[in-house]
This record gives sequence, C-alpha cells and structure tokens, in this order.
Amino acid sequence: MRTQVGIVGAGPAGLLLSHLLALRGIDSVVVEVRSRAYCEARQRAGVLEDGSVRLLREAGLAGRLDRQGLEHGGIYLQFAGERHHIDFRALTGGRTVTVFAQTEVVRDLIAQRLAAGGAVHFDASDTEVGHLTSDRPVLRFTDAAGARHEVACDAIAGCDGFHGICRPAIPADLLTVRQRGYPYAWLGILADVPPSTDELIYAHHRNGFALHSLRGPTISRLYLQVDPDEPIENWPDDRIWDELQCRFELPGSGWALKQGPVLDKGITPMRSFVSAPMRYGRLFLAGDAAHIVPPTGAKGLNLAMADVAVLAPALDALLRGDSRLADAYSATCLNRVWRSTHFSWWMTTMLHRTPGADDMAAELQLSQLRYVVSSRAAATSLAENYTGYPALPAGAGPAR
Ligand code: FAD
Ligand code: DHB
Repeated sequence: MRTQVGIVGAGPAGLLLSHLLALRGIDSVVVEVRSRAYCEARQRAGVLEDGSVRLLREAGLAGRLDRQGLEHGGIYLQFAGERHHIDFRALTGGRTVTVFAQTEVVRDLIAQRLAAGGAVHFDASDTEVGHLTSDRPVLRFTDAAGARHEVACDAIAGCDGFHGICRPAIPADLLTVRQRGYPYAWLGILADVPPSTDELIYAHHRNGFALHSLRGPTISRLYLQVDPDEPIENWPDDRIWDELQCRFELPGSGWALKQGPVLDKGITPMRSFVSAPMRYGRLFLAGDAAHIVPPTGAKGLNLAMADVAVLAPALDALLRGDSRLADAYSATCLNRVWRSTHFSWWMTTMLHRTPGADDMAAELQLSQLRYVVSSRAAATSLAENYTGYPALPAGAGPAR
C-alpha cells in the first residue's frame, strides 16, 4: 500500500486531519485499534471553543453542529453557597463556546470520511511505525480480517492518544516530558433528564468539586470529584445523586437539581502531561498523543483540533518541498498547549478540594474564587482562556 500521510488513531485529531488533508487533495490512510461503534460511543468532552466551531464550519463539517450545538455565552461559578455568572460575551467582545459532544463530532467525521471514500481501518491490531527519519516512513498493521499491511508514506501523524504507540517510537532521550498528577479523579454520568441549568455550573464545595454540563435539551452530563483509586462499585446511582444534590445545593434560591436514569457512568483519572518536541523526523504527534490536560476547562478536544489545524498546512507544504511550517510545527503547537495546560491546572486547583489541605489553602482558594467573580480583569482572563487563547485564526485548517 502507498499513501501520502499515514494516520494512527481515529479520534478527533486523526479523523479531522484526514479530512483537512483531503480538502488539500492529500491522500491518507487512518488505522484505528478500536471498532467504529466503540469510537462513536466513547463518552468524553462536550465543549467546543469558538475557534474549533469555526474550523469545523470552514471544513464543511458543521451541519449537525449548527443545528444541534448549543451556544453558551458564559458559565456559572458556585462556591460558599453562592452562584455567580461569568459573562463571556460581555468580557471578550462577543466570544462564546458551543456544547456539542465529542461523540457527535467523531460520528460526523467518520461518516464524512467514509462517504468521501477515505481509508479508515477500524479493528486494526499490531500497529507499528518505522523508518521515521527517512523521507519514506512506514506504517504497518493487521486489518480486521487478519491481513498484514505495510503502507509506504511521505509522513506519519501520531494521533493515537496518550496510550498509543507513536510517542514511544521516538527515542526517549530526545523527548522532554513534564507532568503532574492530581490527588483526585472525576466520576462522570450521563443522565436521561433535562439539564437543570441554562449554562454549565462549576461548583467548589467542601465535599469536593462538581460540574453540571449537558448534551442537549433532554440529556444532562454531570461530574463529581472522587478519590482517584475509588472503585466505581462504591458509587451506586443513589449515592451519586445525593452527592450531586449536596454539592450544587443553593438554599433559599428555589433552584433544584432534576434527577433521572443514569445512562453511562465512568471514572477519569486526571493529569497534566506535555511531551516535547511534537515531531521526530517524519513523525508528527497531535492531540493526546503529545499532551494531556485535566478536564476542568474543557481543553483536551480543542487542543487536539488546534494541533491538526496547524499540521494540515504544514504537511501540505512539506509534501511540496517546503519544510518551514513543518519545522515550526512543534513550537507553534506548544505555545497553545502550554497556555491550555496552565489554564486547566489553574481551574483544577482553584475548584477542587485537595485531600489533606489545611485551612490556609482553603481560604486561599476562596479568595481566588471571590476575586474571579468580582474583578472584571480576573473574570476576563478566565473568559479569554475558556473561549480559547490564542483565538484560532479564521481559515486555520482548510486550504484557502
Ligand atoms: P483520542 O480521542 O484518544 O483518540 C486516539 C485514538 O487512537 C483512539 O481512537 C484510540 O483507540 C486510537 N489508538 C490508540 N492506540 C492505537 C494503536 N496502537 N493503533 C491504532 N489506533 C490506536 N476533554 C475535555 O475537554 N472534557 C472532558 O470531559 C473530557 N473527558 C475525557 C474522558 C476520558 C475518559 C478521556 C480519556 C479523555 C477525556 N477528555 C476530555 C479529553 C479529550 O476527550 C481528548 O483530549 C481528546 O479525545 C483527544 O483527541 P485525540 O484524537 O488526540 O485522542
Ligand atoms: C464537559 C467537560 C469538561 O471537562 C468541562 O470543563 C466542561 C464540560 C462536558 O463533558 O460536557
């Protein structure tokens, strides 16, 4: 087999890259270890920055997003029994975010790639990459029927997430890894009940953090801070709802959290991780393969999309003999990656209860929260980062 760009992973990064390359007339082969059904059902992120929405729209991928996505002009921050609104539109000159699930983005991308005749090999196994420092790297895999393939490529994109094979294919002594673990995890549920809020609520409570998000007019998405090694069996549905009721409670306000059947339940560990550089020879890493942020602030999916918006034009130029954008790829992406890494760390540490933290730490957290909701400068900083900084420029991904 022969292709121009071999892509490992059919998550948002790999699929969107394949599409952006196709818009530039560049051929790719996508290899994915999981089944199509698994990729389409995996519950993950739900918030798109305005730049990500524009990128999808410019790439002709926003049909359902424009019909079903819910534009939000702010968030609520709740602490000490009070709920405050952060108005993104007013603070950033009209910028917003859109609630549209990653599962839906992935579903639309898969449908688009397959309808366009794109090569996407689901249920692949034993994926390998090689000859990465030559100008003819290879991608090897065994397809769902058991046939082994070797694909000769001009470049390979490692879009295979945190546990993939591409980052480990780079000699360890060439990589600088920065990482931080957090002493808590998120228990997330999808519930068959209309959201109890018009915009997301991020709640800081002495029992721990809670987040009220949504997936549409009839489905709620809720998260609770839990201990990182707590088995999910310790959290029957009744206990989850009791704890959510407690952490979102607003006495005297008349507000109530609506409950409904739990459709999906899972625990997500939290870490910050950045591996640099994001390129080795003709291997380019994008998305979670190169960096992970804790979910507070909803940056992971947006970073993956921003990476491939930079990578598509860089590969286009590289394949035409101009390596300047490819040479700048890692540094260009890492600028945004570190901004989002800092923002996610800041949101996480401001909003969660740190086990064993003393009263001094608790007062400092409350002071930071009071400052964010009372100072226009502080609120603007949150709003600017939440909606995406630096703002993704128009025309970022697709060829003009
Ligand atoms: P992925 O979506 O991980 O895609 C990588 C793909 O590569 C996967 O389909 C994988 O199966 C495939 N793959 C792996 N190894 C191989 C191999 N050897 N061969 C072939 N294919 C391979 N972000 C938020 O903003 N908010 C959230 O609430 C949120 N929740 C999350 C919950 C979980 C459990 C996880 C893991 C992540 C969450 N994230 C969240 C982060 C966000 O979903 C990711 O940042 C985003 O999926 C990154 O996209 P990606 O394409 O880089 O990687
Ligand atoms: C969602 C996830 C997040 O991490 C976040 O900060 C906001 C929303 C979500 O899954 O909807």
